[in-house]
Amino acid sequence: MSTVLITGATSGIGRALALDYAGPGMRLLLVGRDEARLEEVAGLCRARGAEVVAGRLDLREREATAAWIAGQDAAHAIDLAIACAGIVSGTSAARPVESEEALRAVLAIDLMGVVNTIEPTLAAMRPRRRGHVAMVGSLAGLRGFPSSPAYSMAKAAVHAYAEGIRPALRREGIAVSLIAPGFVRTPLNEAVVAPRPLEMDAARAARIIRRGLDGRRAMISFPLVLYLGLRLLALMPARLGDLLLDRPGVDVPETTERERR
Ligand SMILES: NC(=O)c1ccc[n+]([C@@H]2O[C@H](COP(=O)([O-])OP(=O)(O)OC[C@H]3O[C@@H](n4cnc5c(N)ncnc54)[C@H](OP(=O)(O)O)[C@@H]3O)[C@@H](O)[C@H]2O)c1
Repeated sequence: MSTVLITGATSGIGRALALDYAGPGMRLLLVGRDEARLEEVAGLCRARGAEVVAGRLDLREREATAAWIAGQDAAHAIDLAIACAGIVSGTSAARPVESEEALRAVLAIDLMGVVNTIEPTLAAMRPRRRGHVAMVGSLAGLRGFPSSPAYSMAKAAVHAYAEGIRPALRREGIAVSLIAPGFVRTPLNEAVVAPRPLEMDAARAARIIRRGLDGRRAMISFPLVLYLGLRLLALMPARLGDLLLDRPGVDVPETTERERR
């Protein structure tokens, strides 16, 4: 029996990953906040033959998250943890600068929510010297996007954290995978007005991610053309990069989520 923890399992990519992993011999620890959507995905995964534990958690709550993960791991050792939960927020011509509240909400969930998931998981995995953790960043983490500066900041920090901890953990027998998707059709970007080149559906993104995770790949970024394009853009003179990314018609709505204090 393999035990896989997935945060953000109630929607989009996390939900598609849960369905992809669901099958006989799998124990899924599915985390989200929306009770109805959590029960729905848990039911679908059980129907596919998986054993499911549904955890209704707000990942901004560090202690509650750590206690739940430690409790689940004590019952059944977690083999793979995928920190997928996240939100987006950004700017528009009418709102060129993000509010202090939106910026902090993005950092609280997209950065600290990941840390709150990964830290207790590693605390459980390190003594047994095995396991695999994966963090969902974004191609928007490869270069600051004027349409979503805080989101880019949080994702760049997740990338740096995953890369930074990877070598030492590998020596301890624990794999770290960084996942950097391009555009995926999910509720996250439903209200975003922007060109979304090479957008794919969540099921396809989940298959690509699963294949990369099965191979314990350090970096799972897709689509390749967009990934290479953004790497190139990051190497360009800063002002040229700014010009290419500063698109006047783009509107990324401000999040209504807030930091917990
Ligand atoms: N879609 C894209 O184009 C794209 C591209 C690159 C990277 N990504 C990244 O992929 C990940 C998944 O995105 P998605 O597109 O699948 O988004 P989504 O459909 O909006 O799903 C987001 C998930 O995160 C959960 N979540 C948000 N805040 C949470 C919190 N405080 N505590 C616990 N769970 C929380 C949501 O749970 P509830 O709804 O139950 O609250 C939901 O399950 C995110 O990290 C996102 O940044 C997405």
